[in-house]
Amino acid sequence: MPSSPAVFEAKDLSCVLGQGKKKTIAVRQLTFVVNEGETTAVVGESGSGKTTLARMLLGLQAKTSGTLLFRGHPIVGNINHYREVQAVFQDPYTAFNQFYTVDRQLMDAFKLFKASKPKELQRQTTAKAMKLVGLDPELVVGKYPFQFSGGQLQQLLLARIFMIKPTALIADEPRSMIDACSRTTIINALMDLKHRLSMTVVFITHDIRFANHLADRLIVLKRGEIVEQGERKEIFDHPQNEYTQTLIDSAPKTFFSKRVSKKP
Ligand SMILES: Nc1ncnc2c1ncn2[C@@H]1O[C@H](COP(=O)(O)OP(=O)(O)OP(=O)(O)O)[C@@H](O)[C@H]1O
Ligand SMILES: [Mg+2]
Repeated sequence: MPSSPAVFEAKDLSCVLGQGKKKTIAVRQLTFVVNEGETTAVVGESGSGKTTLARMLLGLQAKTSGTLLFRGHPIVGNINHYREVQAVFQDPYTAFNQFYTVDRQLMDAFKLFKASKPKELQRQTTAKAMKLVGLDPELVVGKYPFQFSGGQLQQLLLARIFMIKPTALIADEPRSMIDACSRTTIINALMDLKHRLSMTVVFITHDIRFANHLADRLIVLKRGEIVEQGERKEIFDHPQNEYTQTLIDSAPKTFFSKRVSKKP
């Protein structure tokens, strides 16, 4: 079967951060492909370079050497790229400006598009997006970020994704974002959205078991280098690398009892 066209393609991709004595090779010589419609999980312990890679995919961090392409073109961090490649799981408390209502901030998503929609249509689309992620628009409109829980703010960030309909999502999961229950709810909503919009997802996590539940492919990072990559099941069932095996053995075993369904 021919593989799907590449959304992201990296070849010998490296990134050096910091200066002088603090200089770190955050990622080193990464070569991988993320195909359209696939969910790729990037796993690795703290400091392995996951966020650095996420930031490069988002166009927020320049590479030092190598190649990084989005749909065959070098990534430039501009409005065109942000419309196509969106981040999820920023800290929900800092993602929103505390001084504006959340509905107003959601409507700002329309500024990413050249053709402007009439205000009423914008409001309708925003309300539809809120409903889709399980929030009642009547209870959201006019409220400020501090009036919501962390989980609800994450849901609102997902609603924003629905409004933008990007090609790809980069989900860099913070370690202590929310409790395990909200995490499951949010991830299920995210994967539901992924299927509805046929998006490509790069899911970044320290938890390989969790990656096993939602990814098609895995990339295992250690100290900035890829130690193993390939089809999820193959890696999980037959890890070739000792580090991958350690990640599997040390991961918590309780997040999900079964794999998140692949299709709605
Ligand atoms: N601004 C910076 N200046 C210098 N070094 C940095 C900078 N940001 C990150 N690093 C270093 O780059 C390496 C990779 O960091 P990165 O944040 O990508 O790791 P990570 O895998 O996301 O870790 P975590 O799981 O803790 O989020 C680490 O060694 C880190 O100390
Ligand atoms: Mg990180």
